[in-house]
Amino acid sequence: MSKTEPIILGIESSCDDTSIAILKNQTLLSNVTASQKVHEEFGGVVPELASRAHQSNIVPTLNKALKDANVAINEIDAIAVTKGPGLLGSLVVGVSFAKGLAMANNIPIIGIDHMQAHILAHFIKQPNKDFNAPKFPFLCLTVSGGHSQIIKVNNYFEMELIGQTKDDAAGEAFDKISKMLGLPYPGGPHIDRLAKLGDPKKYVFPISNMPAYNYSFSGIKTAVMYFLQKQLKNDPNFIKNEINNICASVQFTIIKMLLQKLKKAARATNTNEIAISGGVAVNSELRNQIRVLSAKHNWNTYFPEMQFCTDNGAMIAIAGHFKYLNKNVDTINLVPDARLKFF
Ligand code: KG4
Ligand code: ZN
Repeated sequence: MSKTEPIILGIESSCDDTSIAILKNQTLLSNVTASQKVHEEFGGVVPELASRAHQSNIVPTLNKALKDANVAINEIDAIAVTKGPGLLGSLVVGVSFAKGLAMANNIPIIGIDHMQAHILAHFIKQPNKDFNAPKFPFLCLTVSGGHSQIIKVNNYFEMELIGQTKDDAAGEAFDKISKMLGLPYPGGPHIDRLAKLGDPKKYVFPISNMPAYNYSFSGIKTAVMYFLQKQLKNDPNFIKNEINNICASVQFTIIKMLLQKLKKAARATNTNEIAISGGVAVNSELRNQIRVLSAKHNWNTYFPEMQFCTDNGAMIAIAGHFKYLNKNVDTINLVPDARLKFF
């Protein structure tokens, strides 16, 4: 029997963050994330190391989430867990743990699509904070390490894919280019920080021209690679001396590509409710540029708080909340799906 004010536990383990959150009736009680530093030296996530780190982090993360929320496990009404997409080994850890917890405590389990959860992060309420969520239907630009998508969101469950990247994701471009520059993983936050000190027009990188509302970010990665090889031949200190200008110019180009298609999609769908989700939505210049566009095009724009942009258990819990109220729960036979496609 669904309760109208359910307490939902959300477990996220699709990539390199183990994150567990508890929500009561859409309101956040706790959100605990154990990030994995082990990948930094490799310049990207090493799947086997990620699974092992999830295994050692998951129990302490759960205990802290319950303690911070002041909730006992037997008060939880449903356990929501990321079913996919993501790294299979990492998903297996989260789903297996959720199943064990569900069986031992006789709690229903709900499998969640990670990309849908990034969008529903806009509906997380917080105690003593204003709640301002996008109004349906809205467009959501979801930009993360694995995806770049424009989605038309008709309601909590009905979402249409309008456009997406045909190769690398925007976050992946940030991460791969930052690796070429010798910056630690994940590179997005480092490029964001250094770009503030540089000239975004100093270097010109190609803008991809994909049909309709689709993206391509592999071209800029290759262009930056050849550009750096050429410059380094003439000046071995080129990266060291020019890193701020390179970061500013790369960031400028990626944001320009993201916003060109978002503007086009907003015009074509006649939408002025615009939301941004995913790890790249933390980017300060992307937020600035979207604010400029909102003023120009009369958009109402929505950015989740930073802790709800990068991977987090709260977005899994909020997606679970709506599915639970809709009586859409899974059985203990739930299996992870690394290539899960909701859209
Ligand atoms: O959503 P997320 O935490 O994980 C995935 O589902 O992929 O996104 C991670 C991505 C990484 O590529 C990271 O470099 C990027 O988000 N990111 C940023 C910033 N903070 C995180 N990219 C640009 N600027 C940032 N400030
Ligand atoms: Zn994500």
